[in-house]
Amino acid sequence: MSRIPDSFIQDLLNRVDIVDVVDRYVPLKKSGGEYKACCPFHGEKTPSFYVSPVKQFYHCFGCGANGTVITFLMEHAGLGFVEAVKELAQAVGMQVPQEDATPEEKLVAKKRAEVEALDLPGVMRAACVYYRNQLKHAPHAIQYLKKRGVSGEIAAKFGLGYAPDGWHALQAAFQDYDSNPALIESGLVKEREGRRHDFFNDRVMFPIVNQRGAIIGFGGRVMDRGEPKYLNSPETVLFEKGRELYGLYQARQSIRDAGKALVVEGYMDVVSLAQYGVSYAVATLGTATTAHHLQKLMRHTDHIVFCFDGDKAGRKAAWRALENALPLLQDDKRLDFLFLPDEEDPDTYVRHFGREAFEDLMARDALPLTAFMLRELAAKSDLQTDEGRARLIKLAQPLITQIPAQALSLMLRKRFAELLGIGSDELDRLLGIRVAQSRYGKPRSKPALPHSGRRQAPSIERKVIEWFLRAPGWAQHVALPQWEGDQPEMQALYALYAYLVAHPGLANAAQVLECFRDSPYEGTLRHVLGAAMDEHEGFSDEEAWVELTDAVSRLERRVNEQQSRPFMAEKNLSPSSLSDEDKQIWRQLSMTKLRSEG
Ligand code: UTP
Ligand code: MN
Repeated sequence: MSRIPDSFIQDLLNRVDIVDVVDRYVPLKKSGGEYKACCPFHGEKTPSFYVSPVKQFYHCFGCGANGTVITFLMEHAGLGFVEAVKELAQAVGMQVPQEDATPEEKLVAKKRAEVEALDLPGVMRAACVYYRNQLKHAPHAIQYLKKRGVSGEIAAKFGLGYAPDGWHALQAAFQDYDSNPALIESGLVKEREGRRHDFFNDRVMFPIVNQRGAIIGFGGRVMDRGEPKYLNSPETVLFEKGRELYGLYQARQSIRDAGKALVVEGYMDVVSLAQYGVSYAVATLGTATTAHHLQKLMRHTDHIVFCFDGDKAGRKAAWRALENALPLLQDDKRLDFLFLPDEEDPDTYVRHFGREAFEDLMARDALPLTAFMLRELAAKSDLQTDEGRARLIKLAQPLITQIPAQALSLMLRKRFAELLGIGSDELDRLLGIRVAQSRYGKPRSKPALPHSGRRQAPSIERKVIEWFLRAPGWAQHVALPQWEGDQPEMQALYALYAYLVAHPGLANAAQVLECFRDSPYEGTLRHVLGAAMDEHEGFSDEEAWVELTDAVSRLERRVNEQQSRPFMAEKNLSPSSLSDEDKQIWRQLSMTKLRSEG
């Protein structure tokens, strides 16, 4: 899939105003140069959520949530990046283009656009209404659901229906059954030798709903005989199985209330759990839990519990989920694994023992990810022999090194070292982990700790970052001193500076931040901008320029002091004994030094 060009994002951000967009979801009140509201990302009574029209950025001083208008739609409305961009573009009448498309990709895009022009959502909706009505006239389907303990209320909540027996039942719902292309594209109808027929028949229907409440597919269960047990809609432009979670739309509020999401394997598990009051469950659609699933869920909650059958297949599925989760781990996220007793799935368990027993089991027996990982690793090798332990380290290495969460990774390595009976420094060496390595991990999207009332005075580099973000064009007009090092905020500053110099024309902080989305510097830039959110709003350009140039010259002085000293000390040389190359560097260093002092 080709990506959306940066230039388009920039144009879009020029046309959209974050204040208008946020205001649609969270009514804003003007306060000085900014707008304020009670934060939609955490519960609060006094507003600490700020939106800046100048920076085109929001920030909550309570929970630290912050970002651009695109981030807002992703985090608040639960959209993916591309979805959020599309949504904004649509509102201002822009068409999202695709970059670097090959001829094949263009063809696919064209076909996709044609299909998108069809009213697939409308067709899906009409089919769902039809199937739901048919359920009322199908005693054996009602009987089946009753036998499985599903009440009318829950059947309605999940929109359960019935696809009648016979091959052309949908003719009753669609007058243009034989000609409507949307019926084919939606997967509801198949065509063979010029004749159309229904895809589903004599099945209990589970509509699959996306995050915005649109029906994108169906799962149909046979009631007694027949294979497959569940027949799922084919993948279409609306429906991609590895991305969707059954029940998420219905569970959203409960996930927020419960502070966690439960991931189970089956349609009926979700429905039965909801029937018994566990309404924060979602299911993958017959696939392993993918990174897409996890990303989607993590936008709704920081705590995910995976629930698997206690059998071998369940353990295998759990391990797949763990592997996919590792690169997404953050220190403020919690992932647990619950294994049910043999022969039970969540549906049968909750029906046999009830909600309380299920939730007790979850509280008592769910294994934290690290514990599950160590248990499975330990079972894969013989811990009694040196060879077994060595093999284990080899097995664990690719897993552990993928974890970007620093604290979690540290704890895991400590426990793993204990298990192996070696020191954790030794283990780190064997794993090839250098302490600095994690710096390049994925940046945190939200700081874990709320900001306290009192703020520290920002460092010089933070000040320069702040002014560059406030007025990106100014980077063209100042010269930063040469610097090399591994201090994260300085690296972010220099990355930002280099980018701004190479890309004139960026008008506000949001445009710059979008260029740094998913880079190692995004977290730092967002953090700096957020911390300075309510400061200097009223500064005139002159005042701001004075602040910036002052900060730059202080930076220059500090860099020169730091870099000239270790350079000479390390080499223990006087200028006369330097190589030509070193002399050159030395000369540059002393010259910048002179300039900044002069
Ligand atoms: P299971 O076989 O564990 O069934 O499949 P289940 O969820 O317990 O179903 P019930 O209780 O017998 O009704 C788990 C999930 O795998 C997918 C479905 O999403 C199902 O919910 N699956 C299973 C299919 O897609 N097709 C199948 O034929 C079987
Ligand atoms: Mn089941």
